[in-house]
Amino acid sequence: MITILGIESSCDDTSAAVIRNGVALSNVIAGQAVHERYGGVVPELASRAHQQNIIPVVHDSLKQAGITKDQISAVAFTRGPGLLGSLLVGTSFAKGLSTALNIPMIEVNHLQAHVLAHFIKEDENDQNQPEFPFLCLLVSGGNSQIILVKSYNDMEIIGQTIDDAAGEAFDKCAKVMGLGYPGGPVVDRLAKMGNPNKFNFNKPRIDGYDYSFSGLKTSFLYFLRDELKNDSDFIENNKNDLCASLQKTIIEVLMDKLYKASEDLKIKEIAVAGGVSANSALRSAFEEYSQKYGWKIHIPKFAYTTDNAAMVAISGYYKYLDKEFTTPDIAPFARVSI
Ligand code: KG4
Repeated sequence: MITILGIESSCDDTSAAVIRNGVALSNVIAGQAVHERYGGVVPELASRAHQQNIIPVVHDSLKQAGITKDQISAVAFTRGPGLLGSLLVGTSFAKGLSTALNIPMIEVNHLQAHVLAHFIKEDENDQNQPEFPFLCLLVSGGNSQIILVKSYNDMEIIGQTIDDAAGEAFDKCAKVMGLGYPGGPVVDRLAKMGNPNKFNFNKPRIDGYDYSFSGLKTSFLYFLRDELKNDSDFIENNKNDLCASLQKTIIEVLMDKLYKASEDLKIKEIAVAGGVSANSALRSAFEEYSQKYGWKIHIPKFAYTTDNAAMVAISGYYKYLDKEFTTPDIAPFARVSI
């Protein structure tokens, strides 16, 4: 029996989870409301909140899993990428726990963990995992990538954003409309009541499988600036249609490249991961492509779309099987690729 405690603290969610033989026993997440009034994550406040949260969150995750500390086989933690101060809290905690319990520690790449979230089993009979090789669209506040996943530990980024991430496009455009932070979920909610064909925004022309979202953000901004000159209530009067049209454009950009990669590489096993995978229009687009092009799609449970420790624990589980352990002299990485 292999029991992994996972710790995630790369940004503004403190999370701890227990995975036993690949099955999720608990996944506790403490968010940080402190950033809302600043319209974005404040790194120093994030690390302080992690420090406050980490012990109760780990405690709750063990309690919910119904296990005690001495039943943990190894502790897996996010080494990077992320905010350095935030990562330090989880990394230091993992070092302390592994030393105190005399168990191995396992470093996990946050981006790989988002991809491997698809292997978390709800129970022992859960057989819904992707088959290798598969493509994973990783879309979050910091990333927009198409990843060719060859095995648990062998992944290749075949396309990525050259500027803003898809989540950033949602958030920045939402901010311009005064929708608060993070704006992605608000745009998603309002878009359901709007007309996606009301406004047209230019799509980027970028080679290969790479993305670009900064042009869309700028054209959205200029469009609003011009319309507001004629009607100072333009945003208020068109909020739902603006959200629906913006969302449609972002999703089309994401899906066009993913489709191209799928056709070129002849891979029909397609997954999506990261915070933006909670988006209902993106989920519908996946369903539609599955019907139209025979894709076998893998969409994570909502709890595993945003940052969570279950994905860290499952990544740790597969590394444990390969005996890939880390020594306590390591430091976190703020920036690291897959
Ligand atoms: O993976 P994640 O939790 O962490 C970061 O990378 O920060 O992703 C957060 C991002 C934010 O940009 C947020 O606006 C976006 O995911 N997001 C959504 C939705 N839910 C979260 N974007 C669009 N629609 C959603 N339903």
